[in-house]
Amino acid sequence: MSNFAVQGGARLSGTVAAQGSKNAALPILAATLLVNEPVRLLNCPRLRDVGNMLHILESLGCTVFREGNDLVVDSGTADRFVLPTALSHELRSSIFLLGSVLSRFSEADAPYPGGCEIGNRPIDLHLYGLKRLNAEICERNGRIRCKGNHLCGAVVDFEYPSVGATENIMMAAVRADGTTVIRNAACEPEIVDLQGFLNACGFRVCGAGTPTVTIEGVEQGHGTAYTVMPDRIVTGTYLIGAAMTRGDVTVENTRPDTVDALLSKLRDCGCELTRYDTAVRVRAAERVRCVAFTETRPYPGFPTDLQPQLFAMLSVAQGTSVLVENVFENRFKHAQELKKMGAQNRILDRTAVITGAEQLHGATVTAHDLRGGAALVLAGLCTDGVTVIEHAERIERGYEQIDRAIRALGGTIMRT
Ligand code: UD1
Repeated sequence: MSNFAVQGGARLSGTVAAQGSKNAALPILAATLLVNEPVRLLNCPRLRDVGNMLHILESLGCTVFREGNDLVVDSGTADRFVLPTALSHELRSSIFLLGSVLSRFSEADAPYPGGCEIGNRPIDLHLYGLKRLNAEICERNGRIRCKGNHLCGAVVDFEYPSVGATENIMMAAVRADGTTVIRNAACEPEIVDLQGFLNACGFRVCGAGTPTVTIEGVEQGHGTAYTVMPDRIVTGTYLIGAAMTRGDVTVENTRPDTVDALLSKLRDCGCELTRYDTAVRVRAAERVRCVAFTETRPYPGFPTDLQPQLFAMLSVAQGTSVLVENVFENRFKHAQELKKMGAQNRILDRTAVITGAEQLHGATVTAHDLRGGAALVLAGLCTDGVTVIEHAERIERGYEQIDRAIRALGGTIMRT
């Protein structure tokens, strides 16, 4: 276990660059199995989740190495279709590998992903989609075995626009026989990035970013070089940090269009915003105002992955806000931790009612999950003391050197 100690009081100010997107990099890494040639990824973040994905790829026989800032994955040497249990449990997104391993080897064997801190996270939609493509699936002894000697294009009509299931089916379908149409597909920018990568490999995918994604099966793809999109959640986290510390932060190397839902909230609560092509600046001259109502929704709605950070901000805003979590059923664990710092909130099922405090206080708190942990770091900056955040390693699953970034913006944070 590692801890962060955050000293309150600083106003974040300056410029920070967004890292490459974790949630885009993970499915793209899974998709490297779809070609037998080396793939070079630029802007791939150095994170624990990415490291775990690379270990899984290596355990399947892929060759992985870094060349400067680039990551090279050569799946030409891959020769196994059984995903290792322990590593796959570390990384929930290992389920994305089901589609690509199946497509590559006509067979896949993966452990059933357990629950996680933010909810149960079932995989019924992934399995439904694979079955529609003619895969045979057998669930036994906590493992999922898929066989797909002849994957065929089909209409896959999702009941809910699951991000992971959409990505999994895109990967399973690129080499299937015929055309696949995914209806009610998730529209997240990371899906557009996966489409970009797949097409750069010579596959034929269109429609990503809309609810209908069409994949025309082709026999073979080829190696490529691809730049992973910027991380919109990391971008949003630092912008919220600026707002809640009455700071002035520019996040560069980012895509402002991917954080529109957050920017409109920040505008509503009194921040001044400046958008550039690849950067965005947020200034807050005074204490932010509350936001009457926010609910998380699939893209382009307000992202669940920024809900904890917004929660932290509303905990220091003027007035009372209502925040509803629609995507995951158990994603308010940060609420009780924020209370230890003097925040006022009440949770009823999926709804939080948050009354902002003028000042939070230092306390010892626990990062239960990645984004909830990031929220505690931001809250720690708004206290009159020192906050110790236990299990900082959970935050580092998704943030590349968050402590360095905060220090570069004038905050005080140390690893203990
Ligand atoms: C991805 C992101 C995660 C983000 C989430 C929602 C990655 C690596 N992770 O997760 O950071 O919070 O999108 O934007 O990209 N569901 C089912 N059955 C399924 C699949 C999902 O019921 O088969 C439910 C889930 O329990 C959840 C909801 O659908 O309530 C959203 O899940 P999904 O969109 O699949 O999220 P992930 O792909 O797991």
